[in-house]
Amino acid sequence: MQNDPIGLMDSGVGGLTVLKEVQRLLPTENTVFLGDQARLPYGPRSVAEVTMFTKQIAQFLRQQAGIKALVIACNTATAAALTTMQQTLPIPVIGVIAPGAQAAVQTTRNHRIGVIATAGTVKSDQYRRDILAAAPNSQIFSVACPEMVTLAEQNDLTTTHAQSVVAANLASLTDKKIDTLVMGCTHFPLLRSAIQRTVGSQVTLVDPGLATAEQAAAILKTHGLLNPATTRGTAQFFTTGETAHFDTLASQWLDQQPTPAKHVSIAQLTTPMEVN
Ligand code: DGL
Repeated sequence: MQNDPIGLMDSGVGGLTVLKEVQRLLPTENTVFLGDQARLPYGPRSVAEVTMFTKQIAQFLRQQAGIKALVIACNTATAAALTTMQQTLPIPVIGVIAPGAQAAVQTTRNHRIGVIATAGTVKSDQYRRDILAAAPNSQIFSVACPEMVTLAEQNDLTTTHAQSVVAANLASLTDKKIDTLVMGCTHFPLLRSAIQRTVGSQVTLVDPGLATAEQAAAILKTHGLLNPATTRGTAQFFTTGETAHFDTLASQWLDQQPTPAKHVSIAQLTTPMEVN
């Protein structure tokens, strides 16, 4: 079981920002990633729908790759489905929100924290709850930024158009005196430079991907599931969208040259399969 891969899932390429941190921290682990681009965006969808998609993908990754743990590399899916998945899957399931909230609490000095995310994540209020549980004196300012998911998926990261969309999305945060901003959507670290330019260098950006990788490492260790290999792990990629588009973004973003993604149809995800 230690050699089995860690599964990671997202609605699209955003989850690669989490995979990148997992690969850096746990280089000998094998991984398998699925981006559900045919059904992106998850942000505006209902909790029931996002939970159903998350279950389908988890089932597929277990069936196809025998994953030993699942990282929900999507804040929207974490907010909607983490508890359900932890209750129903017989393997460890790790989300991105609790680690991101913890990292924000450790980063802030003035206890004024901004959270940018999808509509679904903001509506869930999960960041606010997790931050307040750890630091009750915090003030949290949450903003839904759905257009920024589109920018990241279109690989429009550094143009003047991208900069102006980011500036417009973050406008309501400029007078809040935040010193910490959580990139509470896994697509947003791709836009890090445009975000930093907008909020100024006095604001520290928190990428929950790093803290998530640390939590995954700790949980694998507790379960005796860390891969003892001494050579670099393999990485497999699946997308429900266009493989060429996925491959372009993956090779641009990841440290290691990715293997080409394989296409998965929605029918493959929705056809019930038996998994032990
Ligand atoms: N990457 C996802 C997240 O972290 C969501 C993007 C979307 O599909 O709306 O929330």
